[in-house]
Amino acid sequence: MKRTHNNGELRINNINEMVTLKGWVSKKRDLGGLVFIDLRDRYGITQLAFNPESPLQEKTLEIKSEYVLEITGKVIERSSKNNQIPTGEIEVEVLELNILNKAKQTPLIIADETDALEETRLRYRYLDLRRPILQKNFITRHKVTTAVREFLNSEDFLEFETPILTKSTPEGARDYLVPSRINQGEFYALPQSPQIFKQLLMVSGFEKYYQIAKCFRDEDLRSDRQPEFTQIDIETSFMDQEQILEVSEKMIKHVMSTVKGVELTEKFPRITYEVAMNKYGSDKPDTRYEMYLEDITDFAKKTTFSVFHDALDAKNVVKAIKVPNLAAEYSRKKLDKLTDFAKKFKAKGLAYLKYNEGILSGSIAKFLTEDANESIINQMEINENDLVLIVSGELDMVNNVLGQLRRHIAKTHKMYDSETYDFLWVIDWPMFEYREEQGRYYSLHHPFTTVQKEHLDLLDKDPAKALAYCYDLVVQGQELGGGSIRIHQEEIQNKVFDILGISKEEQQQKFGFLLEALKYGTPPHGGIAFGLDRLVMLLVHTENIRDVVAFPKTNSAQCLLTSAPSKVDNEQLDELYIKTVE
Ligand code: AMO
Repeated sequence: MKRTHNNGELRINNINEMVTLKGWVSKKRDLGGLVFIDLRDRYGITQLAFNPESPLQEKTLEIKSEYVLEITGKVIERSSKNNQIPTGEIEVEVLELNILNKAKQTPLIIADETDALEETRLRYRYLDLRRPILQKNFITRHKVTTAVREFLNSEDFLEFETPILTKSTPEGARDYLVPSRINQGEFYALPQSPQIFKQLLMVSGFEKYYQIAKCFRDEDLRSDRQPEFTQIDIETSFMDQEQILEVSEKMIKHVMSTVKGVELTEKFPRITYEVAMNKYGSDKPDTRYEMYLEDITDFAKKTTFSVFHDALDAKNVVKAIKVPNLAAEYSRKKLDKLTDFAKKFKAKGLAYLKYNEGILSGSIAKFLTEDANESIINQMEINENDLVLIVSGELDMVNNVLGQLRRHIAKTHKMYDSETYDFLWVIDWPMFEYREEQGRYYSLHHPFTTVQKEHLDLLDKDPAKALAYCYDLVVQGQELGGGSIRIHQEEIQNKVFDILGISKEEQQQKFGFLLEALKYGTPPHGGIAFGLDRLVMLLVHTENIRDVVAFPKTNSAQCLLTSAPSKVDNEQLDELYIKTVE
C-alpha cells in the first residue's frame, strides 16, 4: 500500500478522507474495547482509533510499543481534542491493519523525556535517535548545512573535498595516526582541519573555497568538543580581513534568519583581544551580562592591606568584579567555595566585600580606609546588597580567575537566556604567546597566520607585541569560529618559523610542500572555519555536543554503539608492521 500522508500532516479539513499511514507505535491505550494507538514517524504523531465493534480488535491485542504498522482508514473528528499536537483535532478510524514488523521491548523509553543513562542511550543510539527531541536537532542540522551551501553558492564559492588520509596539519592538537600497510613503518595523520589543502587551492587559483569538513583532533574532551567534529571551512583569495568578516557575518545572519527566523540587522560588535582579556577575563567573552573586570589600583593603594601593596610593588595588578544584588546570598560557606574555585585557577586567595546599609564589610574590612571605601564605591558604582570579589597577582592569572568566576556566577544565578544571540568578533590577536615553562613562543592561531602590516618590524624586535590579522567569532561565551589572513610570502613564513623555533629540517619535513608552493605566485589569501556542531548547539539550545552529533563518542573517546576503538588481531598488526606494548 502506498502511504498517502505522514503522521504530522492530517488536519480537520481532511475529515472523511481515506488515508494510508505507516510508522511506529508510540503508545497504545485500551479503554475497555476502545483501542487507541499513537502512530509516530519523523513528522509527528497521529492517533489511530479501533472501536469496540471493529473486526481488527483481535489483531490489536498483539501490538506493542515500537511495532511498525501500516494502516488504512477514515479521518474523523476527535471527540476530545488535544491542542498539544498539530494533528490533535482528528483521529483515523482504522479499517485495514498490517503489522510490518515486531519490536523487542526497548531498553529506553522513546520519548522526549527519558530517564535512561547516557551510556544506555549511546549503546542503543539508533533507538535514542527515534526520540522526537533528537530528531528535531538533526532536522535543524540539515537546515543549517543547506542554508550554508545556499549562501556560499550564491556568493560564488566552490565546494571541495580534501584528503582524510594525509599529513599533520598545524592546529597544534595531537594527531590521530593511521599506519600504512604498503609503506612499512609510515603513517598518515587524519586532518585536524583542511588548512593546508585549502591554502593550496588558493595557489591553484580557485579563489573562493568551502567545505563542510570532518576534522579529527586527539585532545581532552569537553561538553563542546568531540574527537571528530565538523567545520564549515572557508578560504578566499584577494580579500582582506574586513571582507572576510563581512561575508562570514552575512552567512551567519542568513543561517539565523532561514533556520531560526531570527533577523540580526545590526553589525556584529568587535573588540580587541586585549579588551576581551582585560574586561571579561576571557578570549571568548559572554556579553549577555555585565560583571566586567575592573582594575582597582586606586582603591588598593588606599587600603592598608599589604598583600595589595606587595602586588602593586611587584608590577602586578589588583582587579575586581561586582556581583549585583547577591551579597546576602553569599554566606561564609559559599564564599569559601568560591575561594576554592578561584584557587583551582591559581589564585592565592579571594578577597570580598559586601555592601549593606552604607557599610562595606568582608574579608578585608579591617584594612579599609575612608578614602579606599569612597574610591571603590564610586569606581564600581556599588549599591545596596552588591558583592565585590577581588583578586591580586600577575595580570594573566588575575584576568583568568575573575573571568572564570564571572562565568561561574552567571551560570549559577542564570543571568542570561539562550535566545540572546550576542555574536561578537574578537580581533587583533597577538601573533605569539610566550610560554615560560617551555621557554619558547607559540602561535596563538597557527603558524601560517600573518602579521599586521604596521607590526612587521616587531617580528625582529619584540615578537610578543606583534598583532596578527586574526579573528574569532564568539557567541554566548563560546568560540564559534576562527580564522586569519595567511602568510603568502616565503620570507615572512621563514621568519615566523624561526620565532617559533621550528628548525629548517622540521619546516621541510612538515610543511615543505606548502613552502615550495609559496614560491609559485601565491595570491594573498585568508579564511575562517566555523564549528558546525557548535552552531547547531546554539540553535537547538543545548550545551552537550552529543545532542547534535548522530553517532558521538563518549568523553573517553569511545563509541559505545560499535565498541570502537577495539583490539585487532595479530595478523592485521603484522601486516602493518606494528607490535603493541603491554
Ligand atoms: P580552529 O582550530 O579555531 O581553526 O577551529 C575552528 C572552529 O572549529 C570548532 N572546533 C571544534 N568543535 C568541536 N570539537 C572540537 N574538538 C573542535 N575544535 C575546534 C570551533 C572552532 O572555532 N584551520 C583553522 C581555521 C582557519 O584558520 O581558517 C582552524 O581549524 O568552533
